[in-house]
Amino acid sequence: MSNIVLIGAQWGDEGKGRITDLLSSKVDMVVRFQGGDNAGHTVIFEGQEFKLHLIPSGILYPDVICVIGNGVVINPATLISELKNLEEKGINTQNLRISSNCHLIMPYHIALDSASENKLGLSRIGTTKKGIGPAYADKASRVGIRICDLLDSSLFLKKLKDVLEIKNAILSKIYGYETFSTEKIFEEYINYAKIIKKYVVESTFLINKALDENKNILFEGAQGTLLDIDHGTYPFVTSSSTIAGGVFTGTGIGPRRINEVIGITKSYCTRVGEGVFPTEETGEIGKYIREKGNEYGTTTGRARRCGWFDCVIIRYAGMVNNLSSLALTKLDVLSGIQKIKICTSYKINDNIYENIMPNCIALEKSKPNYIEVDGWEEDIRNITEFEELPYNAKKYINAIEELTKIPVSMVSVGPDRNQIIIKDKNLKKNYF
Ligand code: GDP
Ligand code: IMO
Ligand code: MG
Repeated sequence: MSNIVLIGAQWGDEGKGRITDLLSSKVDMVVRFQGGDNAGHTVIFEGQEFKLHLIPSGILYPDVICVIGNGVVINPATLISELKNLEEKGINTQNLRISSNCHLIMPYHIALDSASENKLGLSRIGTTKKGIGPAYADKASRVGIRICDLLDSSLFLKKLKDVLEIKNAILSKIYGYETFSTEKIFEEYINYAKIIKKYVVESTFLINKALDENKNILFEGAQGTLLDIDHGTYPFVTSSSTIAGGVFTGTGIGPRRINEVIGITKSYCTRVGEGVFPTEETGEIGKYIREKGNEYGTTTGRARRCGWFDCVIIRYAGMVNNLSSLALTKLDVLSGIQKIKICTSYKINDNIYENIMPNCIALEKSKPNYIEVDGWEEDIRNITEFEELPYNAKKYINAIEELTKIPVSMVSVGPDRNQIIIKDKNLKKNYF
């Protein structure tokens, strides 16, 4: 057994939640290491749908310890409502652990996120307006408030007073927004503290101890490689390290602990929010994929932009995450499309690039070069063996492997827990 990192290889919503859920049955611990409630991870089993924003997707297994690592920013209101929803559905949440070092998302972060997006107008990022950027900005500016600060009420009050004076001035004077009352926020957050206190631990020790005891850990990424603050399509990114490297800073473990990094990718490509998307299809085929794939945001309900599979960005994700394999999701959505396109390279000013840094300036000028492969008509949603897939579906997967030089270890053919093909023989032997 081993320690596995699951990373979104595109712009998010690749199906990380459902793959985490699948592998969670084989591990002792599942850890989130970055992001916040901008994430929306869907898990479906036995007809029940779970939408998780903060709590690791392993929570659906009663014996798995689920840790929210120090790199995550927490909106306690979301956390509490998620706990309540899970408990109402009969899920035991006693195995949740929260790092005392997590930074809190405060009401002024959410207001500042909105204010900034509104002010940017057409140049907006298209954020989830959950206050993610402002919370991470405060962390870097060293004026953030952590869970451990919240648990000490006098320290919390002092920090809140100091920071709110500045935030209120920015909100009212720069953006013309309402200000916040220290007392109200204090009271609201102290009540949250009472509820979440029992879950709070020093997670760095907890996780490292589990590794020392040879426990198996799954690290569940949020967002995707191209949304990484350093390595994504800046500035149209989120504010955390979404790539595999984020595991180490977001949990406090060393790089030698990790055995495998699996990149989750859709069989096509989607993006929600603004920013460059070279293989986007704004016409009929894009609409077809959106409707068939139900491509509407889990967190915000926004329509996702849809397009073809892009080998250039997957090669890049392969490089920055050192991916061991790909989990290809939503292959069923492509059934019935006669000709399927795969982007193999970009053309920029008469030059061909198979590999390129995904900075917006270069990508905005890029034109995708495609190969076209024959599609398949068959309904593949009940297939569980790779060999049983239609010939053209197998050819499509093989083409992706050849063009990206990354093996495909899993293929999903429907949203349910059981709608999965384990293609990699070792994975199948060791886990399933
Ligand atoms: P995440 O953020 O990466 O966990 O992905 P989301 O949950 O935001 O979005 C993925 C969506 O696709 C969810 O609605 C899933 O239920 C759905 N899904 C996942 N895998 C499959 C699949 O193989 N086929 C189909 N049709 N839907 C899938
Ligand atoms: P999961 O984990 C897809 C996008 C937003 C916006 C940009 C910045 O479900 O894959 P933010 O609110 O983070 O400051 O927004 O990032 N974004 C996501 N897109 N899936 C997500 O999470 C996302 N989280 C943020 O749409 O473009
Ligand atoms: Mg999502």
